[in-house]
Amino acid sequence: MSPVVIALDGPSGSGKSSTARGVASRLGLAYLDTGAMYRATTWALLQHGVDVEDADAVAAACERVVIESGTDPAAPTIHADGHDVSVAIRGQEVTDAVSQVSRVPRVRERMVALQRAEIAESHGIVVEGRDIGTTVAPRAEVKVYLVADPAARAARRAAETGEQSAEQVSATAESLARRDVIDSSRTASPLAKADDAVLIDSTTLSLDEVVDAVVRLAEPVL
Ligand code: C5P
Repeated sequence: MSPVVIALDGPSGSGKSSTARGVASRLGLAYLDTGAMYRATTWALLQHGVDVEDADAVAAACERVVIESGTDPAAPTIHADGHDVSVAIRGQEVTDAVSQVSRVPRVRERMVALQRAEIAESHGIVVEGRDIGTTVAPRAEVKVYLVADPAARAARRAAETGEQSAEQVSATAESLARRDVIDSSRTASPLAKADDAVLIDSTTLSLDEVVDAVVRLAEPVL
């Protein structure tokens, strides 16, 4: 029997990462953060001085980047070209550039191939991203599309980064909105809810409540 796959998609700040890790820990499954893979690729390209606005240059340079993901939900790791970039990929420079890199079809092909390999090797996995239910794992047993109000998303992201002044929250809201536009409007596997995904709005729910909701959806297929 193929391993169970729980696909968790949605925009930035909707609570995907905390939910995905919580569900994976609760159910003893592996965890794959596909956003971290796109971020790590972006980090490596920036290190090489690649102009991320130049899609041809990004497509050519991404061939040489080696990405390795650790899939333990208690301590996920991500390496680019042998460097542990778990912290560096959360910086503003990578955040500002990642959606430009992710829209390049060759980058996506490479990431999707790596993600499918991780899924195939696992004994059950929670995969979070933007296109998991639609493209990476269209036959996933459980598909969830997680959303939250823009204000709640910005407040959560600001809390995560410790930036809580009104100005910083509003800058975070702008950065999220900018990425949403690029992520949802790109041609290659845009951010989208799969037709058969269950929509969960986390705006007024606690993390535990969202994890409970996803676990309930998964129980029948475990
Ligand atoms: O989830 P996170 O905010 O870390 O993702 C960073 C970026 O990576 C997203 O804004 C998007 O551009 C890209 N991404 C993607 N497809 C995925 C996961 C992330 O294009 N499956």
